Amino acid sequence: DSGTEVQTDFITLTRFLTEEQARLHEHATGDFTLLCHALQLSFKTIAYFIRRASLRNLMGLAGSTNDSGDSQKKLDVIGNDIFINAMKGCGKVKFVVSEEEEELITFPGDGKYAVVCDPIDGSSNLDAGVSVGTIFGIFKLADGASKAEDICLPGTEMVASGFTMYGASANLVLTMKGGAVNGFTLDTALGEFILTHPDMRIPHSRSIYSVNEGNSLYWTEPVRKYFDSIKYPEGPDAKPYSARYIGSMVADAYRTLCYGGLFAYPADKKSPKGKLRILYECAPMAMVMENAGGMAITDSGSRMLEVVPEKIHDRSGIYMGSKGEIEKVLKVFNEYQ
Ligand code: AHG
Ligand code: MN
Ligand code: MN
Ligand code: MN
Repeated sequence: DSGTEVQTDFITLTRFLTEEQARLHEHATGDFTLLCHALQLSFKTIAYFIRRASLRNLMGLAGSTNDSGDSQKKLDVIGNDIFINAMKGCGKVKFVVSEEEEELITFPGDGKYAVVCDPIDGSSNLDAGVSVGTIFGIFKLADGASKAEDICLPGTEMVASGFTMYGASANLVLTMKGGAVNGFTLDTALGEFILTHPDMRIPHSRSIYSVNEGNSLYWTEPVRKYFDSIKYPEGPDAKPYSARYIGSMVADAYRTLCYGGLFAYPADKKSPKGKLRILYECAPMAMVMENAGGMAITDSGSRMLEVVPEKIHDRSGIYMGSKGEIEKVLKVFNEYQ
């Protein structure tokens, strides 16, 4: 080894965004790029605090509850503050919807974008050092948008979405409307997200399922029927699926994106509207899945991205992942229509 094979021409997130904007939007103002810079700052900062949580006494509960009824962890509150301040600081954002804020946040100025976010997804896992993430979606605002209802838009209206998973490394997955899904890894020494997973495609099928099986007592008949069909398959050579459930949607979705399979959080008799929230959990993830060649649907079998929430914290049941796997879910659901 001559030692000369060090990669010196790599694609940072900044370079990627600059090249994409030049390719796709000749007359771009640069506002979107600046917004993405603020996003990456928030990811780096949140990653920094998560990694130091046990050293800085940032574990445990904050003592407050959010609009969804979740007990907030200290890091939920810190992550939320980091995210909101980054969005405020870039000057290009007018509205933020956050899981941790009951009301829509409005910034002064003439920002053209609304950003929806789950600052820390999977926060019940934080104190055990398990992977968590930040989920985001970006909408370009119509003129005159001024109130929470104006942000209650279907996922099809998002111009970009994605998430960062804080795992063994910080992995950013980003997709733009109608575009590819690209994965970046934070090089902590450089402080840069580097394009490491260009054009991510989800495998067409894979026998892995991811669901909180502890809720099965409350499942409706079609849900039970579907999961039984993959756990007790019929036929001499049929093999049951493997189960994988982390309990951080970002981590479960990232694995599903990489390996294929299906992630579900169904609505059930205990939570008739499901658990995951449409604007900042379901829709951004659905866009990533679809743009990677997968699918995302609701309990009624409709396309997740077309669901219009009535309120900013509204929830839905969700099934997402490999196209071939979601088609199997639909086949079972259709028997009940
Ligand atoms: P959050 O931590 O942002 O409130 O989200 C929690 C979500 C999601 O991360 C995960 O998929 C799901 O809740 C886990 O719920 P259960 O503990 O009910 O399985
Ligand atoms: Mn929560
Ligand atoms: Mn979440
Ligand atoms: Mn959260």
